[in-house]
Amino acid sequence: MTIDPPDLEWLDGGVPRAGRFGDTYFSKAGGLAETRHVFLAGNGLPDRFKGGEVFTIAEFGFGTGLNFLTTLKALKALQEPPELTFLSFELYPLTVSQLEKALAAFPELADLAVELISNWRPEPGWNRLKVSGADLVLGIGDARVLIGGLTSKDAAAPPVPPVDAWYLDGFSPAKNPELWDPDLLKAAASLTAPEGTLATYTAAGWVRRNLQAAGFDIEKTGGFAGKREMVVGRKNAQSVP
Ligand SMILES: C[S@@+](CC[C@H](N)C(=O)[O-])C[C@H]1O[C@@H](n2cnc3c(N)ncnc32)[C@H](O)[C@@H]1O
Repeated sequence: MTIDPPDLEWLDGGVPRAGRFGDTYFSKAGGLAETRHVFLAGNGLPDRFKGGEVFTIAEFGFGTGLNFLTTLKALKALQEPPELTFLSFELYPLTVSQLEKALAAFPELADLAVELISNWRPEPGWNRLKVSGADLVLGIGDARVLIGGLTSKDAAAPPVPPVDAWYLDGFSPAKNPELWDPDLLKAAASLTAPEGTLATYTAAGWVRRNLQAAGFDIEKTGGFAGKREMVVGRKNAQSVP
């Protein structure tokens, strides 16, 4: 596999849009606020960080790294942050200059963005980076393929602790069905800790059904910026081995 950067268009406010998928990486109404509402609050974060020694988050679609950096920012505000493992997957990694341009829209994250970008040399397969003390485990390639190495505990795949919280952040399900695939979500459930949770901005009916079939109890809650609904979930007791 060779690295295939995305073809980006830039909308007003510096919001990147992937030509291949016809969708934006984050909300035009505010990427940082969207991440905090959907992915952090949707998973009960940062409250769940408190008091623990380790915490593992996994994400489908690393994109600009906005979710990752926003999470690091929340950790930095804590007196005794847990050690974070952040597992993410990306098929079309941004170039350094694309990352710089995308993250320039978030001055609050500037220091963390510099640290990420100075370490940014994605290679196909598994990459491990330390950013602000967190362990970023980045699978460069198709998440549907890479996740098989984790579930089968392939020697080439890195050991990842059970996932406490999922950020399900593919492009819209209609445009990027690969990241909402039933087998991918089943694999995600099998990597999830007994009390593990998920959050996603979409409430599409077939995505909800795939999540339930994978072993998550889900509920709809209020979305970001006037969106009526988003979905949060928790691994259900029956699917815990
Ligand atoms: C909405 S964006 C993610 C935004 C990101 N979480 C952020 O903080 O900027 C969706 C991402 O999923 C990636 N993607 C799409 N299909 C994929 C696949 N099959 N495997 C891995 N990544 C994929 C896209 O390239 C894109 O970067």
